[in-house]
Amino acid sequence: ALSFAAFSAAAEYPEKPITVVVPFAAGGPTDKVARDLAEALRKPLGGQTIVIENVGGAGGTLGAAKVAKAAPDGYTFLLHHIGMATAPALYRNLQYKTLEDFEYVGMINEVPMTVIGRSTLPANNYAELAKWLDANKGKINLANAGLGSASHLCGLLFQQSLKIDMTTVPYKGTAPAMTDLLGGQVDIMCDQTTNTTNQIEAGKVKAFAVTTTKRLTTPSLAKLPTLDESGIKGFNVSIWHGLYAPKGTPKAVLDKVNTALKAALKDPEFIKREEALGAVIVTDARVNGPEHKKFVEAEINKWGPVIKAAGQYAD
Ligand code: MLT
Repeated sequence: ALSFAAFSAAAEYPEKPITVVVPFAAGGPTDKVARDLAEALRKPLGGQTIVIENVGGAGGTLGAAKVAKAAPDGYTFLLHHIGMATAPALYRNLQYKTLEDFEYVGMINEVPMTVIGRSTLPANNYAELAKWLDANKGKINLANAGLGSASHLCGLLFQQSLKIDMTTVPYKGTAPAMTDLLGGQVDIMCDQTTNTTNQIEAGKVKAFAVTTTKRLTTPSLAKLPTLDESGIKGFNVSIWHGLYAPKGTPKAVLDKVNTALKAALKDPEFIKREEALGAVIVTDARVNGPEHKKFVEAEINKWGPVIKAAGQYAD
């Protein structure tokens, strides 16, 4: 039963600005989802200000750890993604327990990824890229957002599938990684369409393939082949995002935020922005805490063995 104090706190909630921690650098795909979502959450949360705090580093695990240790008062949340499921297999001293140290508010979207390259790369389609990679073994720089990032997972699977080891260059997010790709400092990257679509449309990077098993419907991406049809059978990576709070956040508050999240995901402006960049908003059934927690647990069990087989880890 709700104590009166807890009940009245929830009734007044939110009474002050809410912080949403994004565990990657500003301007990247995770940050993009967070800022668009924050706009859509304002109205359902009574016009309250939502502050985005970028806490990058260690593939998103530093930001996640910060929220796991934050006061469970309903004023700190984490907006994270598949990294919640890959970090446990990658970090031997992870500073939090993924399934125990968070309250799961719900899932937000799924975002496909594209394999892109610097504009000066001498390849203009996937077959030519594969040939170039094979001819340049030992000299390829692959950018990602650190061990535990979505770009790391995709890059790892890509290297394993091609049996080509690449030098990985980690950044605090794929926004700074994109800056170096645009500058030609790195060769290729696997990144979410929310960060790559504009650059592809502007012709500033070369796009070779998408990582989902179905081609995308976004007009500028529809012509890109899937990796599956390009020869890497069964390659299927799409990046889900979710919202989390520190364990112990009052249930009445979580319910309020879950209701606001469901409303935000129906906001026409939010949907338009997300879909224009290839993202897919999830249905209400998946915007459910317990449901999403079960999904994350399944993802931990799915990706753990794959990552362990690759033998990559951080102490
Ligand atoms: C990732 O690779 O995990 C994200 O794209 C990083 C980011 O959002 O910057």
